[in-house]
Amino acid sequence: MTGRIALVSGGTRGIGRSISETLKSAGYRVVANYFGNSEAAQRFTEETGIPHYRFNVADFGECKAGVEKIVHEVGPIEVLVNNAGITRDGTLHKMDYESWEDVIHTNLTSCFNLCRLVIDSMRDRGFGRIVNIGSINGQAGQYGQVNYAAAKSGIHGFTKALAQEGAAKGITVNAIAPGYVDTDMVRSVPHHVLEKIIARIPTGRLGRAEDIARGVMFLVADDADFITGSTLSINGGQHMY
Ligand code: CAA
Repeated sequence: MTGRIALVSGGTRGIGRSISETLKSAGYRVVANYFGNSEAAQRFTEETGIPHYRFNVADFGECKAGVEKIVHEVGPIEVLVNNAGITRDGTLHKMDYESWEDVIHTNLTSCFNLCRLVIDSMRDRGFGRIVNIGSINGQAGQYGQVNYAAAKSGIHGFTKALAQEGAAKGITVNAIAPGYVDTDMVRSVPHHVLEKIIARIPTGRLGRAEDIARGVMFLVADDADFITGSTLSINGGQHMY
């Protein structure tokens, strides 16, 4: 049981929920951030005993207040999982600026915001584990997702840059690139499109949230200190490179 404090952004639903629960089972002191769905967050806390903190990861000021509250109430954040993300799918010729901006800020700027706010304390303590949740669509691109693919691709570059900065300070920074996982986000893809996508997954099924949580557990372990700057693809074989 490590007792280390872990913050999971977007940690009350979908993949994030599974990451929160898995870390808790392994002895981490988990706090889960959320922004949109307060009812789900309340239910999550009742069911898991994991506290939730509401703030918008796209907004630096809100992140600052949220992280300060967590540090005050729970303690310094030693493990950060940047999982929060949204989609606003549409082909470029139909996409408005807002859909671009919302996705870039929520999915990518959020990584800057939260990493920036925990990095000083990780450097001071000589220990940190950061896992950024990217996407198969940041690696391979996806029709209808220039915003999402750009943000997720950005996460992969961000991860490699910060990994170099953290390496000498005991801080590892890695990414996971999930494929299509059975969550509300993927279920909102039009049925006829999703059917074609599933047909291209060699394992023949969507991923489960737990498939991704398993990867996070592996990367945040204390003895995973030689694994940094890597991207772990968990996609049922859909994209290999
Ligand atoms: N490649 C090539 N052409 C495609 C295509 C593809 N992947 N997908 C759709 N098209 C074509 C269609 O065949 C259609 O062509 P025709 O008119 O000649 O038949 C045309 O594009 C329009 O398709 P739609 O009817 O779907 O158009 P739309 O405007 O209603 O919707 C869309 C466009 C919003 C992009 C929709 O296709 C869509 O939602 N696609 C899914 C995008 C996707 O995979 N999102 C992932 C969400 S989950 C996620 O992001 C998590 C993660 O990390 C994996």
